[in-house]
Amino acid sequence: MCGIVAYIGPKDATPFLLEGLQRLEYRGYDSAGVAVTGKKGALKVCKVKGRVADLAAAVPARLRGTTGIGHTRWATHGEPSDANAHPHTDNAERIAVVHNGIIENADELRARLAADGAVFTSETDTEVLAHLVAAHVVDGTELEDAVRAALGHVVGTYGIAVVDSAQPDRIVVARNGSPIVLGLGEKEMFVASDVAALVRYTRQVVHLEDGELATVRADGFRTFTEDARTVTRQPSTVDWEIASYDTAGYEHFLLKEIHEQPASVERTLSGRLDERFATAHLGGLNLDARELREIRRVKILGCGSAYYAGEMGAQLIEELSRIPAHSEPASEFRYRNPVIEADTLYVAVSQSGETYDTLAAVQEIKRKGGRVLGVVNTVGSAIARECDGGIYLHAGPEISVASTKAFTSTVIAFALLALHFGRIHDLSPADGRRIVAGLKALPGHIREILQQEDEIARLAAEYADNAGMMFIGRVRGYPVAREGAQKLKEISYVHAEAYPASELKHGPLALISPELPTVALVPDDELLDKNLTTLGEIKARSGRVLAIAHRTPEAKLADHCILVPKSEPELDPLLLNIPLQLLAYHAAVALKRDVDKPRNLAKSVTVE
Ligand code: F6R
Repeated sequence: MCGIVAYIGPKDATPFLLEGLQRLEYRGYDSAGVAVTGKKGALKVCKVKGRVADLAAAVPARLRGTTGIGHTRWATHGEPSDANAHPHTDNAERIAVVHNGIIENADELRARLAADGAVFTSETDTEVLAHLVAAHVVDGTELEDAVRAALGHVVGTYGIAVVDSAQPDRIVVARNGSPIVLGLGEKEMFVASDVAALVRYTRQVVHLEDGELATVRADGFRTFTEDARTVTRQPSTVDWEIASYDTAGYEHFLLKEIHEQPASVERTLSGRLDERFATAHLGGLNLDARELREIRRVKILGCGSAYYAGEMGAQLIEELSRIPAHSEPASEFRYRNPVIEADTLYVAVSQSGETYDTLAAVQEIKRKGGRVLGVVNTVGSAIARECDGGIYLHAGPEISVASTKAFTSTVIAFALLALHFGRIHDLSPADGRRIVAGLKALPGHIREILQQEDEIARLAAEYADNAGMMFIGRVRGYPVAREGAQKLKEISYVHAEAYPASELKHGPLALISPELPTVALVPDDELLDKNLTTLGEIKARSGRVLAIAHRTPEAKLADHCILVPKSEPELDPLLLNIPLQLLAYHAAVALKRDVDKPRNLAKSVTVE
């Protein structure tokens, strides 16, 4: 959700800014802009409504400077437009600011600044920051002191980068709730809100903490707090590969990430399976066996697909360990004054580790004395740091807005947690061994499913032609149906509704017609007969059925079938989900959608 980049050094900043913005575009893509300055002292700004490619086309050749900031936006305050695009400047065009986050008291500050003569040219909350900093930069005031003073008036969340054309030897950045990473180069420094923009240039990075600022110069940086205390931050090395940020010959990141799953699943499992004791090793939990045995309940929190992965996780935990487990949208939980229990283990799920609603839920639990584990992909992210321990997914960076490989790895992480819990509770060694073997076989099973891509693409094109689709699954299959419907609607814009198969006859059966096909999850498990009965009910109402199954149902029960390899019943949902990813992807392609950047969405939702 919005991306920030900045450069200071001997070179022209603009090429880095444009390339960095391109890499961050998955975080927001309704407008983009850059501002540069240099020794000559003038500030040059270019910003446009549209994509980074539109910005690159609009940037004039004279927009050169050795100090610069850039931004790609996902609108919160004010519609996407040239005027609302960042950077924002003061009226003298001396200060330029890019900002991620929300200034909650922007209206109040705007009124105060306008009364003092500031003329506002946009509807954004960010513009107040430019005028505020300008109001504090009187002759001789260091930019960092002006930014610190300005932030003293601000209520809200921010990651910002600020330049002053009168002090072109520095960029000042600050973080409060929205990430800022410094990238260390040779006599040059980079800044970004996400390491994705930096990895081509440097692997040495420094993550700012909330409440911290930094003055970044070509030859180094100084970090300090809002009350001007210097803090020392050691650089760390980014281990994600540069190749992860390219499409590697695939048409879209989404397709590449779907195909990466055999490898990403292997990474999630790597070093964590113990065949001898038929359990899982999860060193990052920071809980010993005694503490784990005292847990009476598990509550899982996440948003969107992370929440659905949590539903699959809850099912795994209950089945394998017999500890009651439940998943809830973090976005709802945080607003309902939840009861926090000492013997409940809370688990926050997030690919990005930045989702504001999930972070707020974690903070609420901790404020009330609860214990939270994180199931997170992004190492060192805000949610990961806020949690008491957890499981990193190691799925690698996920660039496409729709989650696929991180979703799968999240469910794997829950399978490991469930196995670990199970083996210190009720799960027998034989069942433990069965799950260990099932997990080990998953990458191969996923490969088998991916080999059916051509046939799935053909079916997707056929079914994409409908105004809507129903997704049904029973018990283990229901979260799969929810995730399948979510994927289809977010990238193809085809309306999709998910229902428990058992609930169909209590209402939604009224919707069934030849125009509303059903995707039915039909695993070969103890509920197979029930599911086949539901298919019969749909066919009796002239509904069309695409079954995702282990065995092809009779022709009178399903029009089409995608077969998936049989795993253990508890792990089957993971595999049943893979064809649904390909189905959504190819439906979106058939409908000529912008697959990696679906309309109105952004990769990580860092606002409420
Ligand atoms: C759907 C999707 C979103 C995210 C949700 C949470 O494909 O990607 O629903 O799952 O916004 O994001 P994270 O996992 O980053 O907290």
